[in-house]
Amino acid sequence: MYCRNIFAATAALACLASAAPSAKRAYSAPSTDGFPNPSAQQLAAIEALADGQLSNQTPPPTLAASSLTAIQLIAFNENFEVAYFSSLIDNITADAPGYNLNPGSKSELLAVLNTVKAQEELHALNAKGVLTHFNAFAPPPCTYTFPTTDIKSAITLASTFTDLVLGTLQDASQLLASNGDADPVRTIASVIGQEGEQNGWYRSLLGFKPSAKPFLTTSTAPFAFSALQAFVVECPFNQTQEIDIPVFPPLNVLSGDGGASVSPQDQTLEFSADLTDAPEGWHQYMDGNGDGLYVTYLTGLNLPISEPVQSVHWSGSTVTFKALFPFTENVMDGLSIAALTTSGNFSNFDDVPEATLAAPALIQVNDML
Ligand SMILES: *[C@@H]1O[C@H](CO)[C@@H](O)[C@H](O)[C@H]1NC(C)=O
Ligand SMILES: *[C@@H]1O[C@H](CO)[C@@H](O)[C@H](O)[C@H]1NC(C)=O
Ligand SMILES: *[C@@H]1O[C@H](CO)[C@@H](O)[C@H](O)[C@H]1NC(C)=O
Repeated sequence: MYCRNIFAATAALACLASAAPSAKRAYSAPSTDGFPNPSAQQLAAIEALADGQLSNQTPPPTLAASSLTAIQLIAFNENFEVAYFSSLIDNITADAPGYNLNPGSKSELLAVLNTVKAQEELHALNAKGVLTHFNAFAPPPCTYTFPTTDIKSAITLASTFTDLVLGTLQDASQLLASNGDADPVRTIASVIGQEGEQNGWYRSLLGFKPSAKPFLTTSTAPFAFSALQAFVVECPFNQTQEIDIPVFPPLNVLSGDGGASVSPQDQTLEFSADLTDAPEGWHQYMDGNGDGLYVTYLTGLNLPISEPVQSVHWSGSTVTFKALFPFTENVMDGLSIAALTTSGNFSNFDDVPEATLAAPALIQVNDML
């Protein structure tokens, strides 16, 4: 059981609930439409609902091993998204407490979300098709737990994980391009636009401006893989063995509703992390005053911004500290991704995971309409 507290206080409750074995509620998406193994007829039905078809391009002759790893992460994430939207559709359909809407809104939301779910299924099946073609491991769906308990928190979380995906797909396309694997880049660019359309709608529903930033915040594969662990209860495979991407302990933001709603101003944010499972070397900082530790922020396509940690307090392997959130100088509206790092001077994005002890913290500054 992985328990990652990244999304506000409600996630902590989900963690407590799932830590008790008898209370663990593991959701797996009911396979009413054949996903993840649809027959030809079921696939046609998914495509009709998705308003479009899987690409019928011929796969490229080869793909580098690290390109296949990036596609495994995409498949892993899309499987999660399918389950999430499936759960949301179930809750709205059943008028579950917190999810009941007036009949007009209900049918509109269900129409959109059923299409989104089918589109996510096709994203997952596309990734699976590539992996299977190259005899690489294609992750099947896991069981999941979600921290959300009403429609607003559910759409808020959908928007935040879509933001994270939009950043991670940048990382995947850059990796594919640098590996010389040109073909999948077009597909990923197509999906980036698609997820961006979704997020514009989520943001509108929440009362935010649809477009968050001129250049959406970038991310890295290890940060996305780490964040997804918050929702995974159990997988029918060994993640460490099958997907060669590191997992960091979560970095919790204690300010601004767990990072979900931070005000648009310069301020000091409070963080905590349990470093028990952090990469080797963290012990040298234990019980120290935080010298050599930084909070490094990714925001837009600004180079990583590092701020030294302050007010450091250790309790065993758990560290609590503060760091400046330099909003004004960097115009940090929308998503910022924070990591606890052992370096404070990055000249590119790719070096951040190597110097990370805990990540990601997801910080949203929302521009209400
Ligand atoms: C659906 O409802 C269940 C039960 O309240 C809840 O645990 C789950 O998080 C909800 N799903 C979503 C996506 O909000
Ligand atoms: C998963 O694989 C890793 C790496 O091979 C191994 O260290 C770990 O013990 C495995 N976990 C389980 C639960 O089998
Ligand atoms: C940051 O690193 C660059 C080289 O990557 C170096 O030129 C610069 O002096 C460093 N700055 C600080 C404050 O260490």
